[in-house]
Amino acid sequence: MSSDIEDLRREIDIVDVISEYLNLERVGSNYRTNCPFHPDRTPSFYVSPSKQIFKCFGCGVGGDAIKFVSLYENISYFEAALELAKKYGKTLDLKKISKDERIFLAIDRASDFYRESLLKNEKVAEYLKDRGIDGKTVKRFGLGFAPSSEELVRVLRQDGFLEDYLKTKNLIKLGEKAYRDLFSRRVVIPIRDPRGRIIGFGGRRLKEDNTPKYINSPDSEVFKKGKNLFALYESKDYIKEDGYAILVEGYFDVLKLFSEGIRNVVAPLGTALTYEQAELLSKYTKKVYILYDGDDAGRKAMKSAIPHLLKAGLEVYPIYLPEGYDPDEFVREFGRESLKELINSSPDLFEDLVIQCKEKKENRKKIVKEFKFFLSFIEDYSLRFEVASKFYKDLNYSLNDLLDLQGIKKISDRKEKDFSFKEKVIIKGLLIFKENINLDEIKLREEVKDLCKKALNGEEYELPKEIISFECDNFEKVFRDTLERLRYEKYRKTKRNKKKVFKSN
Ligand code: UTP
Ligand code: MN
Repeated sequence: MSSDIEDLRREIDIVDVISEYLNLERVGSNYRTNCPFHPDRTPSFYVSPSKQIFKCFGCGVGGDAIKFVSLYENISYFEAALELAKKYGKTLDLKKISKDERIFLAIDRASDFYRESLLKNEKVAEYLKDRGIDGKTVKRFGLGFAPSSEELVRVLRQDGFLEDYLKTKNLIKLGEKAYRDLFSRRVVIPIRDPRGRIIGFGGRRLKEDNTPKYINSPDSEVFKKGKNLFALYESKDYIKEDGYAILVEGYFDVLKLFSEGIRNVVAPLGTALTYEQAELLSKYTKKVYILYDGDDAGRKAMKSAIPHLLKAGLEVYPIYLPEGYDPDEFVREFGRESLKELINSSPDLFEDLVIQCKEKKENRKKIVKEFKFFLSFIEDYSLRFEVASKFYKDLNYSLNDLLDLQGIKKISDRKEKDFSFKEKVIIKGLLIFKENINLDEIKLREEVKDLCKKALNGEEYELPKEIISFECDNFEKVFRDTLERLRYEKYRKTKRNKKKVFKSN
């Protein structure tokens, strides 16, 4: 029976495999020993049976059992896989290894090579140190160095990865079977997908010369710049823990902030932020601080990023750095505490606009226009309504006018018995969806509750015209959101009342 690499990985046990080469010592649920891949006086090399991986916290090397054998015996990954298959009595069909898997293995091989080259090159280590990037960050990201234009090509050819690696477009064709490394003489920054697989690289020049400051992997079948975020894999746990993400423009902004212990940071990949990137980020948090460079380009980029972030349902907090500073330079000059203060004192986008409006009355028109523009990207209509109703007075504007241009149907001038947006949503929602809802669960006026009962009983003819004709986009979503909100308000109110009772006792 033949199997593929996935099957082989499942069959073998990494502790068994590595134990044939090294004396492993058990610590808790893991094993450790001195690292065989760098001079190691303390045991920094760990093996995890549950994850079936090894990792050295000294030199950063890591991977699965097959990779260990390939590194230890200095053979290619495929040779190591064949050797292990033989040992475990399996036949391995290399043709069955998926095309994708082969490309990722090839990229991994390139990344290992870059990382090893960095360890051998003191000048580059010095460059990173000068820029304030600490050792931990270098290892966490697996930063590397491309020493020349041919060495990587040689290594890939030797290990049988050249054909697969060509698909990444990271090699430039020079002639028949001759290639050069796109990142030659650059610091290499691996870019991972959210699962942690390396999908591409960024490369920074070491000296100010007339070459581009950065070169990035071209888009390819495994790497799409507009669909991935730099450092999301490295930062996602911190983003969840902190409850927000910081979006910066550059690779080194991320690396510097990580070095300073601020680790909930991501960046786009050298292009303007896309909606897909915003949507990706929104899977990890609902709150984002935009920390772009303090120059015209930075402010412009911020303005173009905000609509995507709002549309993806994120709460947006713009941070304005002093003219001429990027986050890296700001932290270098003023320290991380100043940055934290700046973050903590930054109001959200809409409040910020209101503040600007109060400070510069003469700009009011322009700011209101901007407010309306950004407002129109909030897709949750009840939230849009909420933001508008919170600030319309401060902007010296009417609520209707603020919302009107935004596609929400005009809400007729409020009189006492007129219905609010929320109320219309709820009554009409009950009419359409005929939900079995306990009306006491949600916070409603008595008059509205009455109408809700009528809607639930199908007494459509009794409902006011303005509700029957009421329309908004994506009605079902708005209805569900509003229902949740009313339940929450009711819950908060009862909690508050309980507290009061408790206090007066
Ligand atoms: P910056 O020039 O602001 O980068 O460009 P940076 O990170 O602050 O660079 P350092 O600090 O001088 O090293 C922001 C981002 O734009 C992309 C890169 O992703 C960079 O991080 N970029 C910039 C390129 O892709 N190519 C370039 O030539 C320049
Ligand atoms: Mn910079």
